[in-house]
Amino acid sequence: MSSPLLATNGMCTSYGLSQVLFDMSFDVSEGDTLALLGRNGAGKSTTLKSLMGVLPATRGRTVYNGTDISKWRPERIARAGVGYVPEDRQVFAELTVEENLLMGEKRGADGNQRWTLDRIYDTFPLLVPLKTRVAGLLSGGEQQMLSLARTLMGNPKLLLLDEPSEGLAPLIVQQIGDVLKKLRQDGLTVILAEQNMRFCLDLATSAVVIDHGTAVFQGSIEALRNDEHLIKKYLSV
Ligand SMILES: Nc1ncnc2c1ncn2[C@@H]1O[C@H](COP(=O)(O)OP(=O)(O)OP(=O)(O)O)[C@@H](O)[C@H]1O
Ligand SMILES: [Mg+2]
Repeated sequence: MSSPLLATNGMCTSYGLSQVLFDMSFDVSEGDTLALLGRNGAGKSTTLKSLMGVLPATRGRTVYNGTDISKWRPERIARAGVGYVPEDRQVFAELTVEENLLMGEKRGADGNQRWTLDRIYDTFPLLVPLKTRVAGLLSGGEQQMLSLARTLMGNPKLLLLDEPSEGLAPLIVQQIGDVLKKLRQDGLTVILAEQNMRFCLDLATSAVVIDHGTAVFQGSIEALRNDEHLIKKYLSV
């Protein structure tokens, strides 16, 4: 078996004195779309922040692409090929859609440039008529698409995506799902934090269920789908 692209082991993270992640461990294989599932406040966003170095873990070890990145700063982790779309989406409100995309343009860690503006517009047709629109005037769904597209312009090897479906209308949620399926078919590795299990079921290949800051399940998405007890205990509202 090949080693995972990313593996975290025993991760503990606190906000000040308040510890919210406890001995979090899971891994993701190259080409997988891993869903991080859990109820409101379970620790999904904090897990992504810790992997990205935005909120460094106080304990534990994260190995990415064969290297221990636990102590790295976010910029260094990004340069190594990890793209991160945080929950607040962070578009440059006063720049146009195309300017936002160009701000994100950089070669991948291996020097490749798989993503170009043409490929972005091909993957996100919704952005085409919005090229010259100022990003601050976009809807929430359009901003989510832009934020994802801008991150892809950085040619990541691993994409961390925080609740892309949150607060969006069903039609745009479906469009985002379609984009994520395309990315999976292209072989990109994705860690997707989501409260919405149904959104993940036909997107993700594997899943981690988080409860009270720790991973209580890791397995295939089929194993999760068939485990009514687990779903009821940790994921039903
Ligand atoms: N900035 C912060 N300061 C202190 N505590 C925080 C902060 N952000 C989150 N928390 C706490 O950490 C815990 C985990 O929060 P986190 O945002 O990681 O959960 P989540 O699984 O992403 O939830 P949601 O589905 O609502 O996005 C929660 O108890 C939350 O109240
Ligand atoms: Mg969250």
